Amino acid sequence: MASILSTVAAGFCYNKSPMEVGGGAAAAARPPRRVAAVVVRAEAGQGINRDIRKTEQKVVDTVVVTELSKPLTAYCRCWRSGTFPLCDGAHAKHNKATGDNVGPLLLKNQ
Ligand code: FES
Repeated sequence: MASILSTVAAGFCYNKSPMEVGGGAAAAARPPRRVAAVVVRAEAGQGINRDIRKTEQKVVDTVVVTELSKPLTAYCRCWRSGTFPLCDGAHAKHNKATGDNVGPLLLKNQ
């Protein structure tokens, strides 16, 4: 029986490049590199996206940050928003129901 169908986590970590693994004086002298890490898990036959724009082969959105009309715009990362790609707060209900901790991507136009 399926339990939690999908989990999305995104964050940043400090890591060394593969060339720096094993150390060395040059590697030790360099500051740590910031690397994005994304983990996506879903059961076979189940997707994270339940119903958003399912007729499209891939859901992709592009935003030119300098053209944002508001100083702060929240973009959905939980795939539960009724106004996708914008956040409508649906992540709060999802988090309460699943124990997840997802939230929006905030873009600032400054
Ligand atoms: Fe999806 Fe807010 S509704 S992140």
